[in-house]
Amino acid sequence: MDSGENYKVFSKPLMPADIAKRLIDLSECVKFLEENNNLLRVKAEIEAVHELAGIAKKLEGGRPVLFENVKRSSFPVLIGLLWNRDIVGSIFNAPKEEVSLLIAEAIGPWQKNKEAIPSPIIEKGPANEIIESDIDLYKLPIPLHAMKDGGRYLDSSVVIAKNPETGVANTSIHRMMVTKKDRLTFLVDPDRHLGDFVEIMERRNQPLPVTINNGISLAPWFAAILPRLGDGKYCIANHMVGNPIGFIKAQTVDVPAYADAQFVIEAEILPNVREEEGPFAEVSGYYGSSDKRWVMKVKAITRRKDPIFHSLFSGQEVWNAVGFTAEAKIFAMVKEKVPQLKAVYLAPGGCGFYGAVVQVEKDDEDVGKAAIREAFKAFEPLQQVVAVDTDVNLYDPIDIDWAKTLPVYC
Ligand SMILES: Cc1cc2nc3c(=O)[nH]c(=O)nc-3n(C[C@H](O)[C@H](O)[C@H](O)COP(=O)(O)O)c2cc1C
Repeated sequence: MDSGENYKVFSKPLMPADIAKRLIDLSECVKFLEENNNLLRVKAEIEAVHELAGIAKKLEGGRPVLFENVKRSSFPVLIGLLWNRDIVGSIFNAPKEEVSLLIAEAIGPWQKNKEAIPSPIIEKGPANEIIESDIDLYKLPIPLHAMKDGGRYLDSSVVIAKNPETGVANTSIHRMMVTKKDRLTFLVDPDRHLGDFVEIMERRNQPLPVTINNGISLAPWFAAILPRLGDGKYCIANHMVGNPIGFIKAQTVDVPAYADAQFVIEAEILPNVREEEGPFAEVSGYYGSSDKRWVMKVKAITRRKDPIFHSLFSGQEVWNAVGFTAEAKIFAMVKEKVPQLKAVYLAPGGCGFYGAVVQVEKDDEDVGKAAIREAFKAFEPLQQVVAVDTDVNLYDPIDIDWAKTLPVYC
């Protein structure tokens, strides 16, 4: 992304090239899933409005699904990439228990020293093989999932924006609702870098240019959803694979895009403009309410020759997505203070967000309490943290209940 001048260069390869490739490039990832009988293809013609989500609901938790034939669109839709932890583990070539540890390992060197594997920016990459002449979001198979959703949503695309003061790019995911063929409204929760950047530009009454990257694979995707790690956290994705992940220059905005994305939507966030966004069926199982929110105007759409559109189904796959990354963050931070920490799991019952189980090697009585205290500090949304011994199966709710409820004298 930059020459790396601001960072120490980190060169230790963490991962063999074939694994790195499928963690960077979603097409490679889909190929890998297929070769391992972990992809389900739906060949029948389906409707992106409601029907796709209806079928996805029935298949939730199994193999990721590729809808090959979406009405009024030439592009297939992938859903469920993250809804099965064992399959996510296979993409990392690791047992599911180790995925968050691999992410945590990548956070470490970047967070401590801002060590970077600099990313190149090239003119041409797969993501701009085709430059669409007609800017029309309705030509993309963007699904409408839940009955009361306010519109079709991009719900898994990574937004890249530059900090207007430092020029350093940041990546994050935001739900974005299509309102016109070249217009989106979107949600920025409090304490987001994107919100900070928009605020600076609104004071200048200028638009904030962004790229919206649809269909990137798990390394840059997971890095994008790591909260509050400072801008420039795209470097963490490079650490995850031990390789520089390439960017391309956009056509109309001075913001890079992931070279291996399936689609890139170039846009500007309009200053001081708000339009209705929502409702949206959220990961908690409730609808997020509608309100007047930020607006993007699309300036260009580029894509691969044979792109796969990536969508996410609110439910298990978001619990896992948030779960893996929050576990990584909690693990990295708690381990610093409590070396006896062995594992962290954010169970589905807490939506992968609000409840954690921390596993410790109990070599003295206070280890569990210390781990609980540090976990709350590491991840603010937590409402409940349980500490268990190493003989408890983190993934088994009955075992966790057993550990919680058994009297100490047993
Ligand atoms: C599937 C998914 C959807 C998300 N949608 C939003 C959203 O609509 N608005 C938002 O502010 N954060 C959303 N997030 C969370 C942010 O992307 C995430 O916290 C990110 O790390 C924020 O980056 P930042 O700390 O660099 O600002 C979403 C996360 C996931 C996994």
